[in-house]
Amino acid sequence: MSDIPIRHHQSGSEPKTQKSEVSSEQKAQMEQAYQQMQRKLRINKMDEDIKHKIMVLSGKGGVGKSTVATGLALSLARKGMKVGIMDIDITGPNVPKMLGLEGTDLHVENGRIYPAIGAHGIKVISMAFLIEDPDKPVIWRGPIKLGAINQFIGDVEWGELDALIIDFPPGTSDEPLTVSQSLPTIDGVVIVTTPQEVALLDSRKSINFAKTISIPVIGVVENMSGYKINGHTEPNTKVGINGPSGGIIETTSDDEGNWSITLDIFKSGGGVNAAENLSVPFLGSLPFDPGIVRGGDDGVHRIVAEPDGDAAKAFDKIVEKVILTLEQPNSPTVRIS
Ligand SMILES: Nc1ncnc2c1ncn2[C@@H]1O[C@H](COP(=O)(O)OP(=O)(O)O)[C@@H](O)[C@H]1O
Ligand SMILES: [Mg+2]
Repeated sequence: MSDIPIRHHQSGSEPKTQKSEVSSEQKAQMEQAYQQMQRKLRINKMDEDIKHKIMVLSGKGGVGKSTVATGLALSLARKGMKVGIMDIDITGPNVPKMLGLEGTDLHVENGRIYPAIGAHGIKVISMAFLIEDPDKPVIWRGPIKLGAINQFIGDVEWGELDALIIDFPPGTSDEPLTVSQSLPTIDGVVIVTTPQEVALLDSRKSINFAKTISIPVIGVVENMSGYKINGHTEPNTKVGINGPSGGIIETTSDDEGNWSITLDIFKSGGGVNAAENLSVPFLGSLPFDPGIVRGGDDGVHRIVAEPDGDAAKAFDKIVEKVILTLEQPNSPTVRIS
């Protein structure tokens, strides 16, 4: 960087022009400002290259937000779309594990980070890729965390995408706020809940949060909403099982002797009611499925393991509604800055 001539005025003498060194602090500031400007330009480019950005939020943890985020991404990708998923859960990033990408070394070239590639070609970026020891807790103070998120957004080479799904830690903390401030446009928020009253109460907070930051709510997904039990007996025979709330649930087997009963483990209809009360669309329910737990643990999502299974079908239905919303001529994409 060249030196900047500074004019010093001294009383009683002619003004002299002196050359003064730019302090290293000033240089650092200028460098930082330059980097920020570059990042802003890259973010604007990324905003143009990625058609739709969808945030996945929930009021509380463990309701299946990451499962839904990866499921949405896979389901969209199965329809032939170019999809990316950005895992912003810095303290508990588990998207790579769910997609069997744990321990992937990311390719970095000219300061650009290239996402890992998962099933159906989905591009994946997660803090998990940057953490050396997955067993060590990540304890970052606010500004460092927010800096990391901005870097996530500005330094990743996504290329052109039809959709980017963004997974967050639970709650309405700094992360979604930072992302909503960094990204010029976000299409909307998908809110994940389970059917219990407490989870629904928390999801109301997420809906209000989305409204506060002026991002449209694409809709609510109710997860773990029913557990399907399948059985086999004599054809056309009555079957009864004890339901979770005490009564007997009955059905009749079909001509081949197969029967199934769906148990509402927590409660039913909670997601629909919450969506109705808050005047946001209901996108659909996902069954409670032990295979989803296994898939999450062994890295093969249910959609990939059983492309025609109940979970895959449920995700497809949800995604169809999401696509309809995104493709509305007056798609609610908002410009935040
Ligand atoms: N529909 C479902 N049926 C069964 N287990 C599920 C379902 N959805 C999520 N899970 C399991 O619940 C746990 C928490 O899900 P996760 O997606 O990590 O939640 P969150 O991201 O909200 O914390 C995981 O073990 C996951 O496999
Ligand atoms: Mg999660």
